[in-house]
Amino acid sequence: MNVTRLIQKKRDGEPLTAEELSALVTGYVSGAVPEYQVAALAMAICFQGMEDSEIAALTAALMESGECLDWTGVDGSRVDKHSTGGQGDKVSLVLAPLAACCGLRVPMVAGRGLGPTGGTIDKLEAIPGFRTGLGAGEIRRITEEVGCVIASQGGEFAPADGKLYALRDVTATVASVPLITASIMSKKLAEGLDALALDIKWGSGAFMKDIESARSLGAAMTAVGERMGVRTGFLVTDMNQPLGRAVGNANEVLEALAALGGDGPEDLMEVVYELGSRMLTASGCSDDTPSARAVLEAELGSGRPLEKFREMARAQGGDPEADLELAPACEVGAPRAGYVSAIDGEALGYALIALGGGRRSLEDTIDPSVGLQMRVRLGDEVEEGQPLADLLSAGTGHDEALAFVAGAISITDEPPVELPVLITAGP
Ligand code: URA
Repeated sequence: MNVTRLIQKKRDGEPLTAEELSALVTGYVSGAVPEYQVAALAMAICFQGMEDSEIAALTAALMESGECLDWTGVDGSRVDKHSTGGQGDKVSLVLAPLAACCGLRVPMVAGRGLGPTGGTIDKLEAIPGFRTGLGAGEIRRITEEVGCVIASQGGEFAPADGKLYALRDVTATVASVPLITASIMSKKLAEGLDALALDIKWGSGAFMKDIESARSLGAAMTAVGERMGVRTGFLVTDMNQPLGRAVGNANEVLEALAALGGDGPEDLMEVVYELGSRMLTASGCSDDTPSARAVLEAELGSGRPLEKFREMARAQGGDPEADLELAPACEVGAPRAGYVSAIDGEALGYALIALGGGRRSLEDTIDPSVGLQMRVRLGDEVEEGQPLADLLSAGTGHDEALAFVAGAISITDEPPVELPVLITAGP
């Protein structure tokens, strides 16, 4: 293989073949293809894009670099969801046990926080003893016995993506729809799924800042899933303000437990039900989304999903009855009267990192007790001094976090002309 020739081809806008992409990934993992050539190729992909067939081939090559879950002999539909992330997104904690109660098998492999966006694994690890570093055998066993499991994206799933992502992170090549698609889908498809529901976030707190980019990413990810035999659909959902009220790790687990007990905030439950409906219809368990939603709502009302979450936590070594400690709360007041006209989600994510609830580098340890509790939503009218949010602070980074939160919430004389729509369905 002449790697320089392949870089040239992509630079000039020609597609690469499946064989070429597979050889490149194999050579990259073995060390035969140096990082500088892969970095040059990644930059060429950023400028030239990729055809659907190339994205699917790159996804397959990344996926085949590691383990794929084998479900031979296990009955039931294996279905998962994936969110591109934001602040307060605790949907997986509610939806995995709820979907399992509706008869689906949910072998979820999730990530840690990435920059200002939170991660499902960090949230679950706020529960004392909860283990997420599970091997393929354990993921299979717990899925069979409990119906759902949430494990971390360790090195065994798509290890080539781990290496490529680290390189993209330092070569300004993360922001590319084909590369993001192949990266995320390689890890999801290694789960051996029958169906996948994607939650593509857009807005101030999301990776995708506008709705059109979110749609393009959703369409590219759906095309790859379908090409690889997984029934895939996507929703575009709003991340111009945190989902629910709680941001932070223990704090979000508490809100998720309340939601499982029937007391979840409206916006969170709307996303849970709409994604869950897609999971039930894609797996053939329901004929259409309204009937799927009725099943989900009835199941949530039964109390079984909360018990299912506890069963999953115990199967993963966690103590679901443990009291989750929260750091002391300190109010952030409105600097003036007016209307909440914008919330910068990314700044709220950086506030959480400053408090110690997120990472600046991979080695950082997380304090699960810190976070934010939002007291206002977009469009709310506030008085001067009225609390906008509570900072759950253990002291570390308090002033920096306070400045981030104060700067993140804009108050204006007039209410916003238009509030973002929570859910926009995919095509
Ligand atoms: N998350 C991933 O796993 N990969 C990307 O490229 C972006 C977000």
